[in-house]
Amino acid sequence: MAFDYGKFVNSGVGKQLANALGLPRPTKLRRYKAGAPLLNGAVLIDGHGEAPVAALLKESLAAEGLQVATSPSTSVAAVIVDMTRAQTPADLETLRGILSPALKTLAPTGRVIVVGRPVEDTDDVAEAAVRRSLEGIVRSVGKEMRHGGTANMVYVAEGADESVEASVRFLLSGRSAYVSAQVITVREPVGTVVEPQDWDAPLEGKVAVVTGAARGIGAAIAEVLARDGAVVVCVDIPAAGGPLAEVANRIGGSALQVDVTADDAGEKIAEHAKSLHGGFDIVVHNAGITRDKLLVNTDADRWGSVLNVNLLSILRMNETLVPAMNDGGHIVCVSSIAGIAGNRGQVNYGASKAGVIGMTKSLARDPEILAKGITVNAVAPGFIETEMTSKIPLATREVGRLTNSLSQGGLPLDVAETIGWFSWDANRAVTGNVVRVCGQMMLGA
Ligand SMILES: NC(=O)c1ccc[n+]([C@@H]2O[C@H](COP(=O)([O-])OP(=O)(O)OC[C@H]3O[C@@H](n4cnc5c(N)ncnc54)[C@H](O)[C@@H]3O)[C@@H](O)[C@H]2O)c1
Repeated sequence: MAFDYGKFVNSGVGKQLANALGLPRPTKLRRYKAGAPLLNGAVLIDGHGEAPVAALLKESLAAEGLQVATSPSTSVAAVIVDMTRAQTPADLETLRGILSPALKTLAPTGRVIVVGRPVEDTDDVAEAAVRRSLEGIVRSVGKEMRHGGTANMVYVAEGADESVEASVRFLLSGRSAYVSAQVITVREPVGTVVEPQDWDAPLEGKVAVVTGAARGIGAAIAEVLARDGAVVVCVDIPAAGGPLAEVANRIGGSALQVDVTADDAGEKIAEHAKSLHGGFDIVVHNAGITRDKLLVNTDADRWGSVLNVNLLSILRMNETLVPAMNDGGHIVCVSSIAGIAGNRGQVNYGASKAGVIGMTKSLARDPEILAKGITVNAVAPGFIETEMTSKIPLATREVGRLTNSLSQGGLPLDVAETIGWFSWDANRAVTGNVVRVCGQMMLGA
């Protein structure tokens, strides 16, 4: 039987041993449940000066039925601090003054969200400094959070305050259980923001395409998108036809056997989605492979196959998928922490996944994409519990699992939840973003 560190240190003798040795004990994370409240407790909302975003959030979250606290005297489940009016480093004292006592009373699996204005949107040097300081504070607080808590930063551009709610909802909820120390930028929405009738079915009426859907993270993405209301076209290679059909049948979607590297993959996907489902709104480029070797031992075949599946196929398919997809859609790409931090033995993979980030940022600004009102974002998973990671040798696997602020691996579900949020029509103000789903892995930026 495989050794499970998390289970061991949370049971009987393991717990005593962990306490005696000061070993990390992972907390069971709070994950999304349909019908459950956004938070199990009150949210403290405060800010610096006039704090316009705090004012908006107090109103919208109270309307949601959340108890809004204005002082940290009682235990709270989340703290939101609006620092959009911060102008000089001295103003950071407001944030310390709010967070320091609040963190003492924050409930397990609590949330810290700091809101500021984007660094690049000011020409004032001191203001730029303080804006970036907020990020430093959030990343450090993330490392000080206990009991499964997370800390994240939202930069909201001037004029986009009304659009911040979708991101705050995501960060407060169990959907973001494994997202910590991330920076989300909210700007003018691309296309029309549509709030769902039911926040438990934010993708109702949508058609989504998910590549690599036969297993692992792709299967979880297909399941979450279907759970949230979408009809899902599940795409994978013919060799994975059996499990692919099982996933599609389980979620009431359709299966399409296509190798994403085929020249006509985009056409086949678009044709299938149009003829069976009348079109498509969401594309998730998840299919990916690894062919790990040190660069000195990487031949042209290992190099080319990884770049072809993980990057070139996406560029090629988008040429057909973008014009064919419905206006107001969403494209989400799956990158990796290896594309941000780099990884020994994964130069080819790191090249492909960093390329995915470059492509995402560029495509989000593309005139055709903007004219069609499509958002383009990427997730970068860290250590995720899949068949692939279960085969990593014990010591390396436990290091991968534990070297993050939540002291545990993430689940395919966690990656899927972030992709689901990127696909909401209520979330049109987030585009060109890369969000790591890594529990604040100690690897890379
Ligand atoms: N598991 C992790 O910890 C992790 C971490 C970071 C990033 N990722 C990324 O997440 C994505 C999914 O990873 P996973 O762990 O679920 O991998 P996996 O190997 O379990 O699943 C990948 C799926 O993609 C399919 N696929 C591969 N080549 C294809 C092709 N040419 N055409 C169509 N389908 C193809 C496979 O058949 C498989 O079903 C990948 O892009 C991977 O790089 C995973």
